[in-house]
Amino acid sequence: MMDTRSTAIREMDINRPASARMYDAFLGGCHNFGVERSIVERLETALPGIGGTYRENRAFLRRAVEYLLAHGVRQFLDLGSGIPTIGHVHEVARRRTRHFRVVYVDNEPLTVAHSKPLLAAEINAAITHADIRDPKSVLCSPEVRALLDLDEPVGLLMSSVLHYLPDSDQPAELVATYREVLAPGSHLVISHVTDSHDPAPARVLAEHYAETSDPIHLRDTREIESFFGDLDPVPPGAACLADWRPDPGTPVPSPYRLVHGGIARKG
Ligand SMILES: C[S@@+](CC[C@H](N)C(=O)[O-])C[C@H]1O[C@@H](n2cnc3c(N)ncnc32)[C@H](O)[C@@H]1O
Repeated sequence: MMDTRSTAIREMDINRPASARMYDAFLGGCHNFGVERSIVERLETALPGIGGTYRENRAFLRRAVEYLLAHGVRQFLDLGSGIPTIGHVHEVARRRTRHFRVVYVDNEPLTVAHSKPLLAAEINAAITHADIRDPKSVLCSPEVRALLDLDEPVGLLMSSVLHYLPDSDQPAELVATYREVLAPGSHLVISHVTDSHDPAPARVLAEHYAETSDPIHLRDTREIESFFGDLDPVPPGAACLADWRPDPGTPVPSPYRLVHGGIARKG
């Protein structure tokens, strides 16, 4: 049922921009270096207002976690978490309940090193250094074993991570492997960069990411939606993030329609 792929250990490379630290720079965080700030500046010149796309993704993640909390989910497995600051999952959950558990997963060594001290005082949240392409190493990690009960519903978060996997990594099969192990009542959350809505800016974004340690693989909305398999879509179904249960009265943060996503429930 659970396959273990051989995935090369990701080396630390501070000379090339890393997606986690670019995202942190766009969100106004302090866990980034000159190499990331420089490409962020170039992206802002090439695509004015692009920072709004990153804020939009983080706002979607918040709305998704709030939805799951409101529907009884108390444990979260965040695959490709990046650095858990600026409104990340445990911060959202803590506003609603003390009874939550979060395991963050990332394969970038410095992201994990930056995250550990941030989570040191958290009894309900931890990060594990693993590659999501190796589900066994994720699901059998000491952090998952200690914090999560996989026989109970889990919020499986794949926010802004699947587009880092090329087709040769067989992302559809990988997501299916994770879907299989979820207990009934679990929810899968996905957001993914697409060229379906705004193809020209999507190409510019991908061209910039080609220079980083985390190149982006654009997919169309049909393929992104297929990652949910036979799970039941939560209304309104997968959509451009700006249209997914938008915060009432809040202006859309991004001038571009580059990220598609949603939530689906395992019955
Ligand atoms: C843009 S950040 C996403 C942050 C967060 N999930 C969010 O949506 O707010 C993407 C993260 O995925 C991580 N990542 C990329 N490929 C990965 C893999 N194969 N295994 C684990 N993490 C991965 C990167 O290191 C980076 O920290």
